[in-house]
Amino acid sequence: MKRRCRPTLPAHPITEDFFGKILLGQPKSRDSRLADGGGGCKLPRMSNPTEPQSSQPIIAMCRPTHFGVQYEINPWMEGNIGRADAARAREQWDALHALLAENAEVRVMEPVPHLPDMCFIANAGLVLEDVFVPAVFRVPQRAPEVPHFRQWLEEQDFTVETIDGDSAFEGEGDALFHPSADDTPLLWAGYGVRSGLLSHRRLTEIFRCEVVSLRLVDQRFYHLDTCLAPLPDGGLMYYPAAFGHRSLEAIHARIPEADRVEVSTEDALGFCCNAVIVGQTLVATHASGDLRNTLAARGLEVITTPLDEFILAGGAAKCLCLKLDQPVPGPLAAREAPLSPIRTGNVELTGHLLDRGVMNRALDTITEAGGSFRAEQFAPGLRHDQPSACRLRISAPSQA
Ligand code: ARG
Repeated sequence: MKRRCRPTLPAHPITEDFFGKILLGQPKSRDSRLADGGGGCKLPRMSNPTEPQSSQPIIAMCRPTHFGVQYEINPWMEGNIGRADAARAREQWDALHALLAENAEVRVMEPVPHLPDMCFIANAGLVLEDVFVPAVFRVPQRAPEVPHFRQWLEEQDFTVETIDGDSAFEGEGDALFHPSADDTPLLWAGYGVRSGLLSHRRLTEIFRCEVVSLRLVDQRFYHLDTCLAPLPDGGLMYYPAAFGHRSLEAIHARIPEADRVEVSTEDALGFCCNAVIVGQTLVATHASGDLRNTLAARGLEVITTPLDEFILAGGAAKCLCLKLDQPVPGPLAAREAPLSPIRTGNVELTGHLLDRGVMNRALDTITEAGGSFRAEQFAPGLRHDQPSACRLRISAPSQA
């Protein structure tokens, strides 16, 4: 029998008070505005949300010729090595392709042997207008895909801008534009599992849009597109338990309650949020009757199609697609980049960091407060009466 692993989350009962105390001892480097999510400006509604798009959306897909589960890089893959049925996967992909091609222009890329996840082209990078930002994979297994995607997108006349530095960015899998008529578009961007927070600062610069950083806290929802889908009328479908509490506040600050479609655990684990929306049709591999009704009330027709072979690798409909156009107004060149709310700073910790558990609590607290860290130096005390010293580089979204 095919097994799907559903790990449970560890609890992190560390309070922000503790974070405050740790950092208060280090006044030079403290950014007192550390918080995840950033400021709370309201997102304007689209002027005419249901207005049909003038031209067909353009989607890229990559044929699953070499698809298979050959390693484990997310919980869905655990125990599934060698279990995907290649012929069935191709049939399922063909059916998805045919459904999408009814309402979109679909451009198909041919894959490269020995790269079994290449069909998940959402992770190739992110496109806006003629700019393509290639992924920087956190997982080494997928890094060799990047030059192939890059070359293919360059052949389609996209200009490449890169995420520099050492922050991972796993493309549209972790970055979804919100449909909006606003002059400054909004990009929902996930971090904490596969993409790093610092990549969001660079995305703000490149795409000159507001980037709302959302911390993913459940390994099963390891990419943003597994737990969140912007809807064409300005609504947002998402699975709340996949996000840190400050990230939920950031969502609430931007999306009024009536426009939030919160999905059940059952729907979320069925990959309902991993949906491709073309016009008023939402294509996913699963949606409960209740969810279909909710979406129908918003004018969306839901079509489901089996993709269980791909779920063995942790992906479904949206993962198999990369949008080559976005539902946001342009031109990009006419906009100024807003200031990114992400701040970085160094914190030095000295004391009995290991034997009293201080180190663990400090790192948990940083993470819990929406930050991410890198240890730049660590000198452990070698005897129980000797203190340890550690220098951390911390990044976090600040409140505006
Ligand atoms: N096995 C792939 C990985 O773990 C699945 C990628 C799914 N893609 C996505 N956009 N969520 O990288």
